[in-house]
Amino acid sequence: MQTRVLGKNGPRVSALGLGCMGMSEFYGASDEAESLATLHHALDRGVNFLDTADMYGSGANERLLGRVLATRRSEVVLATKFGFVRDPANPASRAICGRPDYVRAACDASLQRLGVDVIDLYYLHRVAADTPIEETIGAMADLVRAGKVRQLGLSEAGADSIRRAHAAHPIAALQSEYSLWTRDPESGPLAACRELGIAFVPFSPLGRGFLTGQLKRFEDFAADDYRRQSPRFQGENFAKNLALVAGIQALATKKGCTAGQLALAWVLAQGDDIVPIPGTRRAKNLDENLGALDVVLSAAELAEINAIFPAGAVAGARYPANMAALVSR
Ligand SMILES: NC(=O)c1ccc[n+]([C@@H]2O[C@H](COP(=O)([O-])OP(=O)(O)OC[C@H]3O[C@@H](n4cnc5c(N)ncnc54)[C@H](OP(=O)(O)O)[C@@H]3O)[C@@H](O)[C@H]2O)c1
Repeated sequence: MQTRVLGKNGPRVSALGLGCMGMSEFYGASDEAESLATLHHALDRGVNFLDTADMYGSGANERLLGRVLATRRSEVVLATKFGFVRDPANPASRAICGRPDYVRAACDASLQRLGVDVIDLYYLHRVAADTPIEETIGAMADLVRAGKVRQLGLSEAGADSIRRAHAAHPIAALQSEYSLWTRDPESGPLAACRELGIAFVPFSPLGRGFLTGQLKRFEDFAADDYRRQSPRFQGENFAKNLALVAGIQALATKKGCTAGQLALAWVLAQGDDIVPIPGTRRAKNLDENLGALDVVLSAAELAEINAIFPAGAVAGARYPANMAALVSR
């Protein structure tokens, strides 16, 4: 397994991690037995960087990982996140909390659900608008001192928040959306990470599945599939984005790989400080995604990909308005 180092003093992790979110929520029905088999298969293949969050399935995803960690904890670099506060009566609503008392309670609850003594990488899922980031990071740093957490991370933070957080306590990783159709981090956060020696962990590197070329129709999404809420998957945007993916598909065919592998290889080629975490519930798709590690792109091919799918070409915002308001603070 190819590996990369997570930040300046971080652990060595597989060059591709595994995003576990879809095993519990957001992308249609999942099968628990298949998800557990996929998790074990990932570890068997040397994928050691598992990504979850307390909000995925409102705790169910951490409990699912706990069943694997019970016997294989030493094989895993475990990342989870806190900060989203959900309303059980209205699952689509989102609030962010970064208050120190909440930080402590959220961490204890995650440790319990995961069934572990320590979390390797603990991310603030979104920067709270009503709590100075120094206060949130201060409470997270206390967790490091208490031995409950090894390293700290941020998700979808802007460059200014990254700098302020890193000044309060070293930040090991920033996890933000980054892929052929989401180039937002290139406008500041990625450079801030590089300046400070912070690893960059792209989430949704397959564009929530769209960049694999396997998604053809909005109507195929289950009623509760999150992608129904995302402007990129709606109306004319879906068709426009399909045309962009067709270009990637054609190049992939020429190169002898799949569109998804080409999309992942493009993200991996953006720097050795980058560790993407593609998500899948299926061992077969995990194997395909790992194949991206063998897809080497020349400078000419990277330029060709950029010409086919230029930054800003995607149709539609990546989040609905209520979610967009929470990013890049
Ligand atoms: N920090 C944040 O705010 C945030 C937000 C979103 C996600 N994340 C994290 O990032 C991880 C990855 O992102 P993501 O899951 O949103 O999106 P993604 O990795 O871009 O795509 C996942 C989707 O692609 C499908 N897929 C994966 N491999 C495939 C293949 N080889 N062929 C066909 N389809 C394939 C999956 O379906 P199958 O399950 O059927 O394979 C799933 O629907 C998540 O699991 C989560 O841990 C973090």
